[in-house]
Parts: sequence; C-alpha cells; structure tokens
Amino acid sequence: MVTPGPEEAAAAAAEVLARAAKAGGTIALAGGSTPRRAYELTARAAPDWSGVDVWLSDERCVPPGDPRSNMRLVREALLDRLLAPPRSVHPVRTELPPADAADAYDAELRGAELDLVLLGLGADGHTASLFPDTPSLREQSRRAVLAEPGLEPRVPRVTLTLPALAAASHIVFLAVGADKAAAARRAFVERASEQTPASLVRSAAGPTTAILDEAAASLLG
Ligand code: 6PG
Repeated sequence: MVTPGPEEAAAAAAEVLARAAKAGGTIALAGGSTPRRAYELTARAAPDWSGVDVWLSDERCVPPGDPRSNMRLVREALLDRLLAPPRSVHPVRTELPPADAADAYDAELRGAELDLVLLGLGADGHTASLFPDTPSLREQSRRAVLAEPGLEPRVPRVTLTLPALAAASHIVFLAVGADKAAAARRAFVERASEQTPASLVRSAAGPTTAILDEAAASLLG
C-alpha cells in the first residue's frame, strides 16, 4: 500500500502490528530508524502484548544500551511503553562473540513459527542484515546467521535467513522516503535478484505486504 507520507506509513504498519499483538503470536521486529514511529503508535493502540513472543529480524552486535542496538530501539519505542509486557522477548545475545550469538539465535529459533515479520529496506536493496551479493543469501538450512556489515553501522550483524523469513505467515516491509525509491522498485517490481536481497524475501505461507509512502513508491510505475 502507498500512503501520502511517513506518518501515515507508520500508522499503517502500527495497525498491522497492533492487530497481530491483539491476536497473540510470534512477531519478529525490524531495526533501523524507520519503524520507531510505528512502534510508538503500536504501543498506544495495543498496550497488551502478553500473548506475544518477540524476536528481531536482525541485530547489530553492539551492547544492549548502544544507540545502534535494534533491541534498544524496540525496547524504547515499544516494549517500555506497554502496559502488559510480551510473553517472551528474544534478544540476540550480543554479549557473546558474534558467531556464537548467531548460533545461539539459530538454535533458539528452531521450533518457533513466525506469524508476522516486519522488515525495513535499505537504499542498496538489503533487508534485515541480508546484504547484496553476500553468502548469507545462499543459506538453506539455518534460521539465523552471522552477516558481515554491508553498510553503516559497520559492526557484525545477526540476521534471519531467507528460509526463516519465507516460513513466516505474513511479511510486512515498511520503507519511506525518496532515497528508498530505486530499491523499492528493484525489490517489488523488477526480477528477483541477489543484488536486491529484499526481492528474494517473500512469505511462502501467506501474504507479503509493502507499506511505502509516496516518495518511496515514486518509481514503482
Ligand atoms: C538494520 C536493519 C535494516 C534496516 C534498513 C533500513 O539493523 O539496519 O534492520 O535492514 O531495516 O537498513 O534502515 P532505516 O530504517 O534506518 O532506513
């Protein structure tokens, strides 16, 4: 769906998240900066997450209080504002060496069935921490892997893999702004390619939705 601006895009994403939270289930949340407003609106619309298990679609390997931490974003914008906390929260164990943190997240994810995954989109076409033309895109069996940073912040990342994402019942991309327009075209209109990892991310079990503002959607045609 295309919204007039970023605020309406955040509201649309918040509506999806709030509905999922009220229904209860397993939700993987995105990092980056775009979802912050959506998380704030979600906390207001659905302050009871007691039926929800929270995961991250990716994490930067930095301490939990670091401003670059995706879990910190999720806590500040969403979890800390809830009246009833989630049933469980699954941070990436960034206190471990990055490869061990990826192994631990992979093991923890076995048996988890994701009902909803929220993802962002990078101007280079990456999503989660699946970067263009990297070996992580070929991973077939693991649910989480260590990814080398393709962009700032250049710290090791732990990311869900393409098969883990494809198994989710519903995938929602949220992207706003003109700097995402070319990537959105490559991700949602053009032929799927490893040059644009977001183009490879589609739910095999249900819908894949993109929430874009007019600027991000301006090259969709
Ligand atoms: C991360 C991400 C990443 C993000 C995009 C968009 O940890 O960096 O989860 O995939 O969603 O880079 O980031 P912005 O929302 O900051 O543009």
